[in-house]
Amino acid sequence: MMDHPVTEQKSLRVETDGEVGLIALDNQPVNALGQAVRQGLLDAVAELNANDAVKVIAIYGEGKMLSGGADIREFGKTPQPPGLPDVLNGIEGSAKPVVAVIHGVAFGGGLELALSAHARVGLPGARVGLPEVTLGLLPGAGGTQRLPRLIPLDSAIEIITSGRHVPVAEAVELGLVDWLAEGTPREAAIKAARDVLSGALPTRRTGEISIKPDEAVLNAAREKLAKKRPALAAPLKCVDAIAASGLPIAEGLKAERRLFLELMDSPDRQGLIHAFQAERMVKHIPESAAQPRPVESAGVIGGGTMGVGIATALLQAGIPVTLIEMDPNHAKTAHERIVKNLDGGVKRGKMSAETRDQRVAMLTAETGLEHLSQVDVVIEAVFEDMKVKTGIFRDLDRICKPGAVLGTNTSYLDVNEIAAATSRPQDVIGLHFFSPAHIMRLLEVVVADKTAPDVVATAFAMAGKMKKVAVRSGVCDGFIGNRILAHYRMVADYMLLDGASFEQIDRALEDFGFAMGPFAVGDLAGLDIGWATRKRKAPTRPAEERYVRIADRICEQGWFGRKTGRGYYLYDDPKSRTPNPDAVAIVDAERAAEGISSRTFSDDEIVARYMTAMISEAARVVEEGIAHRPVDVDAVFLFGYGFPRHLGGPLNYADRIGAAALVERIEGYAKEDPHYWQVPKLLRELAQSGRSFADLNKE
Ligand code: 3HC
Ligand code: NAI
Repeated sequence: MMDHPVTEQKSLRVETDGEVGLIALDNQPVNALGQAVRQGLLDAVAELNANDAVKVIAIYGEGKMLSGGADIREFGKTPQPPGLPDVLNGIEGSAKPVVAVIHGVAFGGGLELALSAHARVGLPGARVGLPEVTLGLLPGAGGTQRLPRLIPLDSAIEIITSGRHVPVAEAVELGLVDWLAEGTPREAAIKAARDVLSGALPTRRTGEISIKPDEAVLNAAREKLAKKRPALAAPLKCVDAIAASGLPIAEGLKAERRLFLELMDSPDRQGLIHAFQAERMVKHIPESAAQPRPVESAGVIGGGTMGVGIATALLQAGIPVTLIEMDPNHAKTAHERIVKNLDGGVKRGKMSAETRDQRVAMLTAETGLEHLSQVDVVIEAVFEDMKVKTGIFRDLDRICKPGAVLGTNTSYLDVNEIAAATSRPQDVIGLHFFSPAHIMRLLEVVVADKTAPDVVATAFAMAGKMKKVAVRSGVCDGFIGNRILAHYRMVADYMLLDGASFEQIDRALEDFGFAMGPFAVGDLAGLDIGWATRKRKAPTRPAEERYVRIADRICEQGWFGRKTGRGYYLYDDPKSRTPNPDAVAIVDAERAAEGISSRTFSDDEIVARYMTAMISEAARVVEEGIAHRPVDVDAVFLFGYGFPRHLGGPLNYADRIGAAALVERIEGYAKEDPHYWQVPKLLRELAQSGRSFADLNKE
């Protein structure tokens, strides 16, 4: 269901224009270098070399770009010849000069294609790069050998190990691209080819340049990369491959290939490519065919933490905002905070001062919902209180124009109940942003029972404009992310009560790949938030559920984490964290009160229990249809919860362990606590049928 084949019928076109032979890649949308394109390129170069009328060959791309690189959907499958390195060697070895035109992007294999040509020109706005490292790979078709032959070693290392996108002007400055051209890609190709014929554009075979990479520069890069966390294999192997660029090109390419194939087999590569694809797959929703409603203005209700962030994000996307607060003072403060956020964007080089001024002019902060009578979308972000929210939605129903989309940023409340407060539940939807909303990329789009398909499509279109990753969720307590979080967070408390220290749990999970362990996260977010949620849920807590009181005891002291200077840890020095001895004493006291004799946990057991708990609830979320596919859960965690990207998301990671092994684990844990540890039906089904979560993404 998810694989959208890039058009294969017509992958490449060859034509001649006088003495110029033209090869146009035509495998849109990204001109990926799949098997048909590779074969086509090889044949085209041979055909044009055999054509006596042709004196020079120019390669360009149809559509938006030269090429996005190798076809990543072929990875992990049996390679189909010809391989890209052979094709590119064929281009470099062409007896007739070859020039490449870079427009849009030339990434990965796309740039390697250009590097194998004998000259390169770029069109304005183009970007080049070797992003393989971000996919757990290294450039495997000559990038690590040809780039250092063209540009300074330190720049080549930096570009390859960061995977960053290099603007064409910088590429020209570095000597990677010969010069900036103009016109359409086809016009630029003909012009560049004629410049080659006239001698104005010099040509040479990159592979014939000989260099001697400086060991000291290579070692300095290795040292720097080895310090990075998580310590992934790809960046260091990139440097090893670059080190081989001092060898004759054929030998260097062999070394590069060997290292590339080692990475191709690694689980990190699989996880990182899943993460790349997850970002795109979540856009494919049942409502894709519906026509989004126009969003040319928005109202935000509530100018607190979330309202300010949401308003900033809307303005960054160029959508005018009317923000509503309770009184003029609150409105003024919110206005100031939004302007401060925009100023921050200017400081970080994300926005020009001119755009900032324009965006500030698009903002008004008012009191009174009447100001929202003409906006296209409303996003409510007031206190998490059903009565307050239903009151506001009743008013919006009266005030807003017909067809306005009415969104709520609630974290846990029932969007159906909020929708029922209006006479137009079809227009009501959950738009759950994450804090800070102008930075975090995730947006959970919560589709209630009566939400109209075009309202869902509008939310996704708006998210696209805001450069957010929108994920469709059904209605349940906490939606996809917070529901799963609430479940696995408990297991950290259980391990704490049973004998592991919070420090060990945090460190074990940080070593595993999370930026911060759960107790450190609690301190950062504010322990009072979870405390309030636990109090709210207390009346409906099942009697069989184990309840750990440690966090409540800490909060009762008025210690809410960083903002009060202490929580699980002490923050006297804001940069360091040392365990709070009083929190440790609370843990000991609670263990004694429960009559628990502490046992030791290995780091592996901590990770296994934590991840199994996360996967269990994630499986239930898919089983109940709250998330349509496993990949939707993965995207929520990757883009909203700091899940380590190389592990690909909870359910992609679950496939590494395997459903049968997970069932066995849960059954083992269930002997201690049969209420908490229950095998999800879906997981059992997968274990019995030998299928994986990845299989469900394809259905
Ligand atoms: N192979 C196969 N499919 C690809 C692809 C690739 N390299 N790059 C993008 N696609 C697909 C996307 O999954 C998406 O599919 P969908 O329509 O089914 O959702 C479709 O093409 C359009 O992609 P985007 O939505 O990302 O389109 P944009 O126009 O926003 O961006 C892009 C285009 C900048 C090229 C971006 O897609 C991108 O960064 N792609 C990956 C680039 C990359 O990492 N290349 C290296 C590949 S590895 C390699 O080359 C190995 C070599 O060294 C041997
Ligand atoms: P907050 O307490 O920082 O802000 C709420 C704001 O709403 C206050 O400034 C208040 O003056 C204003 N307000 C209250 N009633 C109002 C009314 N009738 N009219 C106009 N303004 C009114 O709360 P926060 O953290 O911004 O949360 C808002 C909503 O977003 C809640 O539903 C919360 O659950 C949700 N949320 C919070 C996240 C977080 O990390 N803080 C993350 C995602 C969602």
